[in-house]
Amino acid sequence: MTKLAIYPGSFDPITNGHLDVIKRALKIFDKVVVAVGENPNKKYLFTVKERKDMLGNVTKGLNVEVDHFSGLLIDYAKKKKANAIVRGLRAVSDFDYEFQTALMNRKLDSRIETIFIMTRGMYSYLSASIVKEAASLGANLNGMVPDYVEEKLKKKFKH
Ligand code: PNS
Repeated sequence: MTKLAIYPGSFDPITNGHLDVIKRALKIFDKVVVAVGENPNKKYLFTVKERKDMLGNVTKGLNVEVDHFSGLLIDYAKKKKANAIVRGLRAVSDFDYEFQTALMNRKLDSRIETIFIMTRGMYSYLSASIVKEAASLGANLNGMVPDYVEEKLKKKFKH
């Protein structure tokens, strides 16, 4: 039986930290569905289509499906018949929110586990937000995001 994980997130845009979590999740699961969330309370730099395009480009060759969802993550995970939800953890500061969300998701459906993958130390400072701030100010993003994403960020900020 294929073991399937959903890796949900905003991915606005995908960073090398996200990509590392995807690759490591693929050591545990046969396939990972990277699902772009649409949180109406968040303002995004990239459209869902642009975020999916970047995800598709940088996960080429991996057993990854790129998709998007709206509404409850747990409903989407059930619809996809997922075995687990994967989230990355960078630091203690991520923990409260992730713990609360995982417990809420378990309350909504206890059959789907949430699995946390610790970030590699070298990516622990990385977030899509800090990357966008650095990109907006013309910083060199080498090692932070895949080249394709760096190009898209440069275009957005017209550097
Ligand atoms: O990259 P992010 O911003 O941390 O991703 C957050 C996302 C989209 C994964 C999260 O907001 C989410 O799952 N939204 C769907 C609504 C939901 O199911 N919330 C949790 C239970 S109420």
